[in-house]
Formats: sequence, structure tokens, C-alpha cells
Amino acid sequence: MAGLIRREDIDEVRSRTDIREIVEGYVTLKSAGIGSYKGLCPFHDERTPSFHVRPQYGTYHCFGCDESGDVIAFIMALEHTTFAETVERLAARIGYELHYEQGSGPDREMVGRRQRLLDAHKVAAEYFQAQLRTRGAAAAQRYLGERGFTPQDAESYGVGYAPQGWDHLLKHLRSRGYTDEELQATGMFSENNRGGFYDRFRGRLIFPIRGIGGEVIGFGARKLYDDDQGPKYLNTPETQLYKKSQVLYGIDKAKRQIAKQRQVVVVEGYTDVMSMHLAGVPTAVATCGTAFGAEHIKIVRRFLSDDGSGGEVIFTFDGDVAGQKAALRAFDEDQKFMAQTFVAVEPHGMDPCELRLARGDAAVRSLLEAKRPLFEFAIDATLKRFDVKSLEGRVQAMRAAAPIVAQIRDVTLRPAYARQLSGKVGLDTAEVVRAVEDAARTPRTDRRPAYEPAEAADEPVAATPRISLPDPRDPMLRAEREALEVVVQVPHLLGEAAWDQFTAVECAHPVHTAVHDAVTAVYSGAGGGEVRQGRAWVEALSAAVPEPLRGYVAGLSMRALPASNDAQLERYAAGVVSHLYDRQIHRRQADLRAELERTDSRTQPEQYQAVSRQLLDLELQRRKLQAS
Ligand code: UTP
Ligand code: MN
Repeated sequence: MAGLIRREDIDEVRSRTDIREIVEGYVTLKSAGIGSYKGLCPFHDERTPSFHVRPQYGTYHCFGCDESGDVIAFIMALEHTTFAETVERLAARIGYELHYEQGSGPDREMVGRRQRLLDAHKVAAEYFQAQLRTRGAAAAQRYLGERGFTPQDAESYGVGYAPQGWDHLLKHLRSRGYTDEELQATGMFSENNRGGFYDRFRGRLIFPIRGIGGEVIGFGARKLYDDDQGPKYLNTPETQLYKKSQVLYGIDKAKRQIAKQRQVVVVEGYTDVMSMHLAGVPTAVATCGTAFGAEHIKIVRRFLSDDGSGGEVIFTFDGDVAGQKAALRAFDEDQKFMAQTFVAVEPHGMDPCELRLARGDAAVRSLLEAKRPLFEFAIDATLKRFDVKSLEGRVQAMRAAAPIVAQIRDVTLRPAYARQLSGKVGLDTAEVVRAVEDAARTPRTDRRPAYEPAEAADEPVAATPRISLPDPRDPMLRAEREALEVVVQVPHLLGEAAWDQFTAVECAHPVHTAVHDAVTAVYSGAGGGEVRQGRAWVEALSAAVPEPLRGYVAGLSMRALPASNDAQLERYAAGVVSHLYDRQIHRRQADLRAELERTDSRTQPEQYQAVSRQLLDLELQRRKLQAS
């Protein structure tokens, strides 16, 4: 066994690694003042960025969930690697040779199972790719040609061919020194009843599936021969590298464009991703043999938007029933999206690959122009199931669609959709609004059959109350309102510390949350600070909040602030923000102290320590962000 990595080496690797570069492989970062960057936290779901990175100190910290650490902790947490593996990966990345305290150096096991696994995938992908160029791969080459892909296209996506036979890849990897245990861990082999291995992918076209960084982590294999009894597509099973709920085909190629264009196009298959990219839609990705779910959203959203303020998601489906079901399932997830979500379905049921073949690249691009909001799509898909010619049918259709409107979490959007629904079913708006309100009071488990009978219900979501303005008599809400008045009216008078404090605040009232979101979004979008004051600033904020809240923002911008000169105003502004921030910190500290009280340091030493640490971190954060 190899020994421990030398302490000095660990420090050296840590200090030579740019944490910002590493973090940016996972999170889109924006400048947050001098020497500081922020983005959406990869450790918890959030809509406004509280995840901060300070390259100079080599640390990250999330003010939302309190995760913090250095570059090693970051990778360990996200990649689930051990400490030693992580240091080894970082060292390899910068070409630094590590020394070990006992023993010679890393032996095979110590290099890290993960790295070995990645290497095995690389070797396999190269093998498949080479096989595609052989004469035995005629069927695979024909398949690609029939779908409009040139050999260069195939090459650029690393497409390959798994030859017919039982042990081609097996022999190849064994010849490269992989042990049975490692081979098993790759998921590329099946086991016969005598415990022997054979190739999982036989006589199939191979699409290598890559992680965000471009490393191959699995394969999707398309059937080519009629005598193949298996499914049309066979994928890598769940392995240490391949988690299908998190895998997005094409993300490695698409991520930069997703971030740049603030758009992601979700298609169904491998060939659809390739066709989209080749047709000039570089933001396309696909899930691999599973529905687009919450974990996919998390991954995409980190690239899509650095402040939760926008970006559009467009689902395209083959137009068949399954695709519509998938859209409705995605609708459930959409509630966590701040992004605008759309559906674009080709009217003849063609997928992007077929569309490109039949009508060319321009038709693929214009498919996206026919996108419709997901909410509207879901409502229409539901209405289609009823006969809206009879009054009875229209009432039933309206009752079935009302839960969809009720489920729109952004309550400010509901009235417009209720009106639209009332128009579609030809019933009075008041009646539709009543049905929506009824549906909002009913737990979702009861409502679900309205649009998706087959799926198992998940946890019910509490009904969202109708929009009500913050009560100025509530001291907490008054503190929030005063802070918002300040950032709306005199943002230029707030220092960096005050902004950090304001960003870290989570408002208690949804109206304030919406304004807070708008402020942080416009603020970080403004970049150099040009628009961060005066009328342009207030107008930008007003445009960034949901329409019904514009009046509230106008109110915030108008109340006279209690100060008679600039110096006073500046003090007042900083004071109001730090007052709000302190209030929150105190509340969280009180919660933690109470928890500490309940924790016995002898019987639960770990938890006790953890809570103490959180308390300490909170205190450190408070001191750091204390307005000077
Ligand atoms: P499609 O059936 O639309 O196939 O499945 P395709 O990609 O258009 O391929 P061709 O053009 O018919 O050859 C779309 C996606 O659904 C998943 C795959 O990820 C596929 O790319 N799928 C489909 C499976 O995982 N398993 C299957 O058996 C079928
Ligand atoms: Mn298809």
C-alpha cells in the first residue's frame, strides 16, 4: 500500500490550483466585487446566487446553505472522491509530482478507482471508434449515413461501433491490464452464470456519453441488426461514474453556448442532439433513457443562469403521446425553475433528426420559433381529451385544466392563465378562477389524475395563498421594506459589504422575495455599475418583477428616506441593510444555539461539533460582512 501524500505537496497543489477555474466547470460565475465571484450554489437549490468564491483565499462559501471549504473539499463534495484521489487528480491536472510519506508512490489502487474507471472508458471509446472504420461496421456506417451524418460528424461526437461477438472489448481491456473487479465496475460487461464476463454491447452503434468536463462516463448503444433481441437502445447501467438521473448527452459540447445564449434545448435522443448542433442549435442536450428530472434541471440551471433571473428552456418532443407525457412530467419540475419553459413540437411528429433530413437545417432552427409556454402546452394537452362542443364537456375540461393553473407557483401568473383558460372553454372567468382556487386548496395527490393518471404521486404541495401585500406593522417585514426602499432608491450609496449583506438576506414575504430577486438579478446583470442608479435602475427593476408588483416597486422608489444630506443618507442606507441582515443572522444563531442545547456533547460529539462549527461560521460571516 502506498503511503500518505506529503503535507507540503498537498499545500502546494492546493495553492497552485485556481479554485475559480475548477468551480467554473460546474457553476457559471459572475463578478461579485473585487476578487470575488458568485453563482448559483451547486449544493442546494436556489434562485439567487449565494455561492461565493474568493480565488485569492482559495475558498468558497455559500451564504444560503453554509457549505464552505477549499478546492479539495469542493471536488470531494461534488465528485464523491476521497481526499487522496482528489489531491491526485488536481496534481495530475497541473502536472505536479506527488511524494508519499511511506512507500514508493501511488500503486494501482491508490491512483483512485475513479481515475482507472475513467481511463477504461477512454480506452473503450477509442476502441469502438476505431472499430467504426472497419469493414465489419458497414451496418453502422449505413445507419449514420441514412441519418445525415458524415464520417467527420461521427468523429466529432466520438461515435463508434461495438462489433458482433462476445469478448472483443473484454479482451482489449484485459490486454490493457484491467482487473476483473475494475471491468465489472465499468458496467460494460455482463456476467454469465459461471461468473465469467462477456461484452454488454454487441453489434451496436455506440454513442459515448460524456460528463460536463468531456470525459467519457458511459455509452448509449443503438441496435443495428434484426436478430438482436435486445431493446432499441441499451445504455450503461448505473456505475460509480454513470448516474442516469444526472447524465445529459451533449452537455460537454453545449455548456458554453447554454451559458452564452441563456437557452437550453432538451431533445429526446442522441441523433437529435447531433442533428440540432449540426443544424445550428448548439444548446441542445438529451437525457439518456430517462425523463428530464430535478437533477437534470440542477445541472442545466447552473449554466443557464448565474442569477436565477432568466434563460429559456425549450423541450422538443417527437410529438407523440409519450413526448407529451414527458412534457407534463417536466411541468412538475418546472416549478423549481425560474427560467421560462417552452415546448416545441413538430406538427407531423418528426424528431429533430428526421426534420433535418426531410427539410434541412433551417427547418430545425425554425422548429424552435414555434415554441409555446409549457403551461399553455399542458393546458391544451389536457383540454384535448374532452369534447368541448358540449357545455358539459367544457365544464369537465375546465375542471381538469384548473389544477394546472393552480399549480403555477408564481401566483402572479395565474390570473392571465385563468383568463386564457376561460376563453378556451368559453366559460366565465369568475367560474374558472373559482375552480382554480378550489384546486389550489386540494392537495396535489388528489389533483394529479387530472392530467397524468399513470404516474405515482409524490409529496403533496401546500396550497399557495393568494397574493397579499406585506403588513407594515410586522417588524420583520418593515425591516425588509426599509432595506428594499434603500436599494431601490440609493443603490450607489451602498458599499460592497452592504451589498453582500443584502444579497445574503432571504426575505420572509414572497412579494419582498420577488423584489429582492429582481434587485440581485439586475444588479449582477448591470456589470460595471452604469445602470445602478437613478431612473434607469428603477425602470430595470420594475421590468424585472412580475407585472402586478410594479406598483409596489413604484411605492418603494417613492417614500422619502429619513435623511437631509448625503452623508446621513449613506449612513441610514448602510444601517437599514445591516439591521435586516443582523436580524436574520441572530435568528439563525438562536436556532443553532437551541439545537446545541438539545445536543449532548458526550453522546453526540460529532453533531455537537458540527453545530458549534456552524455557529462559529455564522459568527465569522457576520463579522466579515459587518458594514464598516
Ligand atoms: P427514439 O426511439 O426516438 O430513437 O428514442 P432515435 O434516437 O430517434 O433513433 P432512430 O433515429 O429511431 O434510430 C429516443 C431516445 O430514447 C431513448 C434513447 O436515449 C434514444 O436516443 N431510448 C429509446 C432508450 O433509452 N431505449 C429505447 O429502447 C428506446
Ligand atoms: Mn426519435
